Amino acid sequence: MKPKVLLTRRLPAKVVDLLKENFELSVNPYDRALTREEFLSAARGMDGLLPLLTERIDGEALDAAGPGLKIVANHAVGFNNIDVPAATARGVAVTNTPDVLTDTTADLALALMLAVARRVPEGDRICRGGSFPEWNPQFMLGADVHHKTLGLIGLGRVGRAVAKRAAGFGMKLIYAPHGECPQGGVDPVSGAKCLSLDEVLAQADFLSLHVPLTEETHHLLGAAELAKTKPSAFLINTARGPVVDEQALVEALDANRLAGAGLDVFENEPQIHPGLVGRDNVVLLPHVGSATAETRIAMGIKAATNLIALLIKGEEPPDCLNPQVLA
Ligand code: GLV
Repeated sequence: MKPKVLLTRRLPAKVVDLLKENFELSVNPYDRALTREEFLSAARGMDGLLPLLTERIDGEALDAAGPGLKIVANHAVGFNNIDVPAATARGVAVTNTPDVLTDTTADLALALMLAVARRVPEGDRICRGGSFPEWNPQFMLGADVHHKTLGLIGLGRVGRAVAKRAAGFGMKLIYAPHGECPQGGVDPVSGAKCLSLDEVLAQADFLSLHVPLTEETHHLLGAAELAKTKPSAFLINTARGPVVDEQALVEALDANRLAGAGLDVFENEPQIHPGLVGRDNVVLLPHVGSATAETRIAMGIKAATNLIALLIKGEEPPDCLNPQVLA
């Protein structure tokens, strides 16, 4: 008998076919997220879960699946939706989807930097609204991106991929590590200079967030930190919304303590703080960092590969976050 797997949202056909070849697959029949009750009931009796970042996988969810559950293969690189210690305590492996979305997410961070600094969505709205008056040398003046200082907060896979792109724009690269600075004070891969968070906040023209959401990074940028930036600086967030205190961000923008923001993630998705909507100096995207056709297939295949490794081949999944459960 094939192992039972629950897929909580419809994924590309290539991914679903691979899952069906290997598993007795249950798929959310609706074109929406399952309610909590629907999810808990659908999880019952499963050997594996393939959830998205919209599902909270905590002790209750793991217990609802029951003692046969062996693996939760998250369809995201971020896994703040999963209580990994609770899974570990129950002997359940947890995996994520690193690497395949690194470049795609980095591309979007650059897109947000360029869009907000060069006022791209605002210009588009003007053209569509029929209010392109005539060419004017003082019209729609933005800020240069090239040769400015990029301050990366966190320098993991995506942070480094952003640094690589920014180097092509001649940007000066500095970063605040999620941990310690390396010996020599320079990241050997990107060449970015390692500084304290306060120094990065004070020096950066563009701040780009690349830390995971944990208890330590929740509201990493609050009122006190946002008071330390240059008033001409732009904040870019393609990581997780709660890393920024959204209310403090709105207050900083209101007080002209920041020039603008490019945001792909929000504190209470899908809600967006009303103080952000309607501002021309903020570019808003609906959490689409990894949303390309190619990358969404690659993420689905990666999650499926993790499930197949454990449930079919009896091997350690390639992206296991808690390999101790398999020891
Ligand atoms: C998306 O936000 C991800 O973590 O993959």
